[in-house]
Amino acid sequence: MSYAIETIGLSKRVTDATGELTILDDINFTVPAGATLAIVGASGSGKSTLLGLLAGLDTPSAGTVKLNGTDIFALDEDGRAGLRKRTLGFVFQSFQLLPHLTALENVMLPLELRGGSDASNAGVRAEAMLGRVGLASRLKHYPKYLSGGEQQRVALARAFVCEPPLLFADEPTGSLDAATGEAVIKLMFELNQERGSTLVLVTHDPSIAALCGRTITITAGRLV
Ligand SMILES: Nc1ncnc2c1ncn2[C@@H]1O[C@H](COP(=O)(O)OP(=O)(O)O)[C@@H](O)[C@H]1O
Ligand SMILES: [Mg+2]
Repeated sequence: MSYAIETIGLSKRVTDATGELTILDDINFTVPAGATLAIVGASGSGKSTLLGLLAGLDTPSAGTVKLNGTDIFALDEDGRAGLRKRTLGFVFQSFQLLPHLTALENVMLPLELRGGSDASNAGVRAEAMLGRVGLASRLKHYPKYLSGGEQQRVALARAFVCEPPLLFADEPTGSLDAATGEAVIKLMFELNQERGSTLVLVTHDPSIAALCGRTITITAGRLV
């Protein structure tokens, strides 16, 4: 059987001035398609590094990640980028919106990159998705004229607009007030259920983790 996500002996080590640092050590887990997974752990435990590896945005020192049965580190950089484009939405801890594009243009971008009918309908679909996150009146705004919560919702709309089977979000409520955070989480779970997508959330909020089907805890780079 192939899982939506499978990690096999996944490890990340880096060398800096003080010597070799093990960030992740022999991480093994599987996530079935359509499941929801929370990754929790103290600040600095390796959660963001793990999520980046799951998305193939970073390369492991040992081990690998399979997404829907495909060993992503057997692919080259272009192969991984292509796989991300087709199957993955990623919400960065720091949003990573493009500052010179409006909210609408930021959300249109992944559709345009896909080409074909996705690209020709990009405007309509991006506008609908921004409406869905409550930003119908912010389409023409540039990121710097949006609040943190609004930027977070644009980032979410951008990650979801292609309806990817995999959605990864790194502390999606980290910079939001409680009410906005709750709305963002509700939306992510709604979209997960509507579309049967697999949702992986990094969070340090136990009440958010409790909403997920399963929680894994990282402590100093190890799965506990
Ligand atoms: N490229 C890197 N070089 C050196 N240290 C790193 C690098 N990336 C992450 N780290 C360190 O690895 C640890 C885990 O980081 P991170 O995955 O961002 O943790 P978390 O998201 O759980 O807060 C931290 O101590 C961080 O400083
Ligand atoms: Mg982090």
